[in-house]
Amino acid sequence: MTGKVTAIVLAAGKGSRMNSDIPKQYLSLLGKPVLFYSLQAFEESNVDEVILVTGSGEQDYCKKEIIEKHHLKKVVHMVEGGAERYHSVHHGLLAAEGASYVLIHDGARPLVTPEVINRAIKTVSETGGCVVGMPVKDTIQLVDESGRIISTPDRRSTWMAQTPQCFAYELALSSYNNAIACGDSTITDDAMVVRRYGNAGVVMMEGGYENIKVTTPEDIAVAECFLKMRGCII
Ligand code: CTP
Ligand code: MG
Repeated sequence: MTGKVTAIVLAAGKGSRMNSDIPKQYLSLLGKPVLFYSLQAFEESNVDEVILVTGSGEQDYCKKEIIEKHHLKKVVHMVEGGAERYHSVHHGLLAAEGASYVLIHDGARPLVTPEVINRAIKTVSETGGCVVGMPVKDTIQLVDESGRIISTPDRRSTWMAQTPQCFAYELALSSYNNAIACGDSTITDDAMVVRRYGNAGVVMMEGGYENIKVTTPEDIAVAECFLKMRGCII
């Protein structure tokens, strides 16, 4: 028994790198919003419930056009996000009271699968903290402010962190409470918070290269291509 498993799906960003009038999580992929596919994967997984974090004034749209229209049953709460991703995560965590484990997921990653989600639930129940990711294919170079390469990490040690990022609930909440209290504005990743402010280990779990984050305009075409390969039709 793992206790209650809650997914926190983040959809409160503005999508500035997408250069679109509407936030990228609501853009169409084969006729349905990006966020629909992310929520559907959790619907079909072993998570017990989903907390959806949206931007201000977006809840009615999500309720009518995504949740009700597609008969999604697991979204139990909708909460408003904050200025930065880590604020939105914190709002989601505060609404997840009673969970044993939380899976924090970018709503802009529509290609996540129920299989990866279920494996992540198993891994977090064994370890207390895991991040879905993939080995980096290119060599990563660290550069200084002038662009000069200052070091080259061994490629065998470099992984891309994707989501979901999964933690024991109390560990995630206390780590985020500490990070917010410290005013740390450098946070870009949940494992970073749990390691830095929860003093806990986090393991990497291999997911899939398809689990891209829709970030810039060409990612829409890539995501549609992956969906078509899975047999999704308009
Ligand atoms: N997100 C959020 N609240 C924020 C910022 C981001 O819930 N204040 C969510 C986004 O909706 C997205 C995920 O976090 O699902 C990953 O963030 P990112 O790709 O950076 O999305 P945006 O911040 O929307 O995009 P950009 O950085 O290009 O503005
Ligand atoms: Mg962002």
